[in-house]
Amino acid sequence: MQNPRPQQLVAVLDFGAQYGQLIARRVRDLNVYSELVPCDITVDELKELAPAAVILSGGPASVYAEDAPGIDAGILEMGVPVLGFCYGQQIMAVTLGGEVGHTEKGEYGPATLVREGDSRILGKTPVEGQTVWMSHRDAVSRVPEGFRVTAHTETCPVAAMECAERNLYATQFHPEVRHSEYGKTMLESFLFDVCGLERNWTMDNIVEQKVAEIRETVGERKVILALSGGVDSSVVAALVHRAIGDQLTCVFVNHGLLRKGEPEMVEQVFRTQFNVPLVHVHAEERYARLLAGVTEPEQKRRLIGTEFWKVFFEEAQKIGDVEMLAQGTIYPDIIESGARKTGGKASTIKSHHNLIPFPEGVHFDLIEPLDHFFKDEVRELGVSLGLPSSMVYRQPFPGPGLAIRIIGDVTPEKLDILREADAIVREELDAYNARLFEETGERNGEHSCWQYFAVLPDIKSVGVMGDERTYARPVIVRAVESSDAMTADWAKLPYEVLGKISSRIVGEVAGVNRVVYDVTPKPPATIEWE
Ligand code: XMP
Repeated sequence: MQNPRPQQLVAVLDFGAQYGQLIARRVRDLNVYSELVPCDITVDELKELAPAAVILSGGPASVYAEDAPGIDAGILEMGVPVLGFCYGQQIMAVTLGGEVGHTEKGEYGPATLVREGDSRILGKTPVEGQTVWMSHRDAVSRVPEGFRVTAHTETCPVAAMECAERNLYATQFHPEVRHSEYGKTMLESFLFDVCGLERNWTMDNIVEQKVAEIRETVGERKVILALSGGVDSSVVAALVHRAIGDQLTCVFVNHGLLRKGEPEMVEQVFRTQFNVPLVHVHAEERYARLLAGVTEPEQKRRLIGTEFWKVFFEEAQKIGDVEMLAQGTIYPDIIESGARKTGGKASTIKSHHNLIPFPEGVHFDLIEPLDHFFKDEVRELGVSLGLPSSMVYRQPFPGPGLAIRIIGDVTPEKLDILREADAIVREELDAYNARLFEETGERNGEHSCWQYFAVLPDIKSVGVMGDERTYARPVIVRAVESSDAMTADWAKLPYEVLGKISSRIVGEVAGVNRVVYDVTPKPPATIEWE
């Protein structure tokens, strides 16, 4: 059986680890392609993927628990190098006749590693004093026959073990976590010294390979794509257009809820720069009628989403003879929608796609060229395809757009106010982030803002401008530090930055007489106000 992928594959067997995605991510950072596969994959199924190496992830279970996930023992006998982390080490040990027991105290957080003898994985790291990251209660108490202990910590006698003759390696700690000082060195030793892999997961190779794949899948057919101006759909558009040129039509549904300058940017990049056939659907009035008087946040979301697909499919019908729909699904969408539980890509994609409300009798074959890319890989791909960095590094922006940043009903007047105020917040904080980037070299550094915008509440208050009493709207500024939107903290912006945002908004945006700053983390608040 042949590996269906052109790259060598490192298969990460996912035992339900908190860090499973991170392992695949770290391997790809070293320019080697890696995918998560369910831990109950059989040796024959795995052979079909022809992995060049296998990594066993950690996991929350105890190996002796009744429902503890096991491993097909054949995987350890395939002749392919295997590296296990944490639960991965323990399952390797018990499967091959070793023993796992409770350590007296669990070990959580940093620990100091002491190496013992030679090791193909640890050989390039210090013999004493390196910090590794531990997170376990159980640990290997007796290694299987043929294995040697290659490291210990104060509480963990088998912090690493290996059997070089059978190419089996394992650590109790987590090399994939940044807190493990030499984790990257260990992973490099495994991938390049032990497995002899090549660094061929590079953007140039990827573009070339994806273009060929898309051409083959699409053939002569016509493809449409719903372009939102967001990162994922923009990168798919650029990639698919590179592959099949004018066989692709992009449909940009302008619902009038976008930020200042965004529709113009989509036009500029796709029509002018890339010369992509682009249908710009002016649905602003249709949406204004739809949303008139609607105040409930979830109802806004529902109406906006349903109408979007209605408009989109109407346009698709007008184009005619379209057989394929390109989508910007990315790898975390697939993983998070349950790939692990369903045990395979196909079934997951189906549940994910059920979300698209295809009208009766309408059918498109789907093409999702980014479905195995992490978000930062999508951005890199965008840069190498020539998309502007303002588009590629765009901060998250909700599909329902400004409608969920206007508390209460959405009116054209409120949209105008919010759009102008938001443009000022973004301009000032883009500049603030750029200054931090210059100082630290980090794009999402310690104090950088991750997402920032304006919100328009449904109240008015009294102010005084010139000698006149005003009764006008406040604008709320929201700026947060985060890495994944799951949790966030309010950004500790310098007073002069806040002051400038405030005086600009009040001075430049008619109808606003007050600016306030939201100083609530998530939780208990959310990032958005609706
Ligand atoms: P919250 O407000 O839940 O937001 O803290 C977390 C992240 O999700 C974005 N968000 C949305 N994105 N449709 C989207 O596509 C939505 O309805 C939506 N609501 C929130 C939000 O901007 C933040 O990045």
